[in-house]
Parts: sequence; structure tokens; C-alpha cells
Amino acid sequence: MRIHVHFSSIVVAASLALGLTACDDQDGGRPDPAEGGASEDPEQDAEPADDGAAQAEDPPPRVADEPLTTEQVRTYLARVAPVIAGRSLTYDESQMIADLGEDAIEPMISGWVGEPGFAEAIRYLIQEQLHASGEREGVDYELPGNLAAEIARDGLPWSTILTADYCVDAAGEHIDCDTGAPYAAGVLATRAYLISNKGRFNLSRAKLMLETFACRVYPMEQAIQIPLQKPVLIPMFRAESAEEQVVEEAQGGFGNGNGCYTCHSQFSAHAQPFVKFDADGIWREEATGQQDPYGELGRSFDGLYASHLFDPYEAADEATQIFGQRVANLREAGEVIADSELFPQCTVKNLVAHAFDLKAGASDDISKELVTSVAARITSTDDDPSIADYVVEVFTNEQVIDAVVASQLDQGLGE
Ligand code: HEC
Repeated sequence: MRIHVHFSSIVVAASLALGLTACDDQDGGRPDPAEGGASEDPEQDAEPADDGAAQAEDPPPRVADEPLTTEQVRTYLARVAPVIAGRSLTYDESQMIADLGEDAIEPMISGWVGEPGFAEAIRYLIQEQLHASGEREGVDYELPGNLAAEIARDGLPWSTILTADYCVDAAGEHIDCDTGAPYAAGVLATRAYLISNKGRFNLSRAKLMLETFACRVYPMEQAIQIPLQKPVLIPMFRAESAEEQVVEEAQGGFGNGNGCYTCHSQFSAHAQPFVKFDADGIWREEATGQQDPYGELGRSFDGLYASHLFDPYEAADEATQIFGQRVANLREAGEVIADSELFPQCTVKNLVAHAFDLKAGASDDISKELVTSVAARITSTDDDPSIADYVVEVFTNEQVIDAVVASQLDQGLGE
């Protein structure tokens, strides 16, 4: 599939300028059928549309070294102000843009991350990502958002989102988290996260964790997540083809040509640290991870979910291997993810995606090169940066600015 250049859609234009190709959503971790099918060659992407008329209207692209016009700077800052500061530009800011032009961008964004609106903007980001906010049936779905807001406001390392050993209540007090587990794990070990993303085999909890904090779906590079060996898994997930499938209920699932083992050999490792959290997000020491013979596939007893692991002792144990490292439980799993180089890269990707309505996760909407170079710059000065550091680096990045300016003025897409 080819993107038509004359679309004035911000999303399409921004993705092109951020270095991208048309791409299908990878939701559910299914391999992208379009992979390799779309080109990054701007000349091809600039192929004129049949009618030709739209192309004639395209203004000339911005010349790389020319400074941005006042209007372009204002357009850009007006677009990102709500995302960073939770408000629109003030009159004074508009004046400052008129006076300083491009030089207004850095000081303005650096100022915004010190405003109270910034903490709320980060709360909102996390709530959206984790599908958790509000309060229902006595469960405080604000806990992840409260933590995110505190981390942003106090300039704590952003990795605290996965490693905090406390929760934060509505008044901003540090409290014990609400799962009853003998550990905390940032936003992960909250009933808000666990209930909002519950599901059979704990797959949704595992999937969202990886997608949100490592920008990976299944299957991912084996060098990142070493697959668990077949005999370690229950028979259903060992199958690499329909013939190998010994579980009747699972025989129909080979339509996409991928054996269960391809994805579930990695998935299994990430689902395991959730094995003691029931459907209500409560940690249950007695959980066994065993399939309930009368329940749906993936359900264990009494509101718990089944493990992928064959050995009954291992199935009942939260210990697992994340990115090649042994971890005892969800807390250590969060620490390993936060320590991985995927975490800063994914944070950059999430910020760009959130601001410009693009897809993060494993999608190709945002250029990999942009993500890795921005992440490398941020972590070169501080290996555990605050979210304010990320935001300033991302939104003052020239490539990001140019892409957004180009998309909004509908220019810069073709030769
Ligand atoms: C391309 C990767 C991939 C392959 C191959 C794959 N799965 Fe999955 N599977 C997933 C993902 C991703 C989910 C989780 C969806 C979610 O809950 O968000 C999932 C979920 C499931 C679930 C839970 C269903 C539910 O509704 O919660 C079962 C059961 C399952 N898979 C069995 C299988 C079997 C059996 C096979 C082989 C026939 C297989 N899968 C092949 C990626 C895969």
C-alpha cells in the first residue's frame, strides 16, 4: 500500500516526514503483512497522484538550513503546548515567538516542564497507555496516574514508573500499593493495571507491559527475549504447526502460518510474573498456575489465570527470565525492563506518538533511527533521565520539529 502524498492529513504527513512508510497495525502481535512491502524512498512516495492537481498545490519544501518562519514556530508550539503543559499558548508567548522565532522553542519548552500542567499531562499519558483511571467498586484506578504525576513533578528518574516501591494516593502521600503482594513494582503491581488488563494466561497484562515500556510485540527478536525451551511449556504452546498441536481446542489457530511456539515461547516468560494476581488484581500466595479442567483455556482456579509452564512448581512460581535475566517476581521484571536500552527508546517513541497521534508500540509509524538517536542523546548525559529531560530533548529535536511543521503546512513531502 502506498501513501498518497496529497493527503493533507497530519498523521500521514507526519509519518512520512518522520521517516516512514505506510504500515499496517500490528495489534495482537501478528506479524506485519506489509513488512518489507513499503518503501522508505521519498522519490517513490512522492509519485504524483492520478489527478495531478493536488500535487500542483503543494508548496515547495522547506530548505534545510533556512530558519523557520514565525508562523511555523507558532504552529509547532501551539501544537505541542497542550501535550506538554496542558494549555494553549499565552499572549506573551505569542509575542516571544514573534521576537525570537526559532530561538523561542527551547526556552519555552524547558519552561513548560516546570509548570503544574506538565505533571497532569504525564498523568494523562500514563492513564491512556495503561487504560486505567477513575474509581470503581472501591478500586482506585488513579494510582498509576498519581505515581506518574509525582515522578514528573519531582523530576524523579522516569524508570521509577516501573520500580517505585510505593504507591501515591490522591493527596500525594506515599502509601502501600493495593494488591497485597509482598513487593511493589511501580504502576505494574496496582489493581488498576492488573484489573484493566486482566485476561487468560495473563497475556494481556504481559503484552501491555512489553508494548508500553519496551515497544515490542510477539514475536520479538530472540536476542532480546530468549525463548523458553519447548519442554518447559505446556504441550499446547510447544506446537510449531497444526500437526504438532496435541490440544484439540487449539488446532484451529494456525491460520496465519505461525506456530504457537513462535510467540508463546517468549510470551510465557513475560506472563509468569503475573501468575499470583487474580482477576481482581489481588496477590494470592496459594496460586498454582494450573489450568482449571472445567474452565476456559488459560483460566486457573478461583479467578486466577493459568501459567504457560509445564512443571507444577515452576507454574506456581513467579520467577522467570526477562531479556535473558533471571527475576524473582514482577518487581524484578520491572527493574530489568527499566534498565534495558529499549526503555528509553520506547519512552521517546511514546512521546512522539502521543503528541502527534501516531502509533507507538511495535509500529513503524515513527522512524527507528529517530527514536534510537534521540534516546542515545538523552542517556549520554544521564543514564536515568527524568521525563522532563525526555520531553525537552524530543520536542526540541530538529527532525521532529521539521516533520510536524511540514505536515501542518502540508509541504516538504515531495520533490
Ligand atoms: C504472532 C504471535 C502469536 C502466535 C503465532 C500465537 N499467538 Fe496466541 N496470542 C498472541 C497474543 C499477542 C495474544 C494476546 C492477546 C491479548 O490478550 O492482548 C495471544 C493470546 C492467546 C490466548 C488467550 C486468548 C484470550 O482471549 O485471552 C490463547 C489461548 C492463545 N493465544 C493460544 C495460541 C495458540 C494455541 C496458538 C497456536 C495455534 C497461538 N496462540 C499462536 C500471539 C500469538
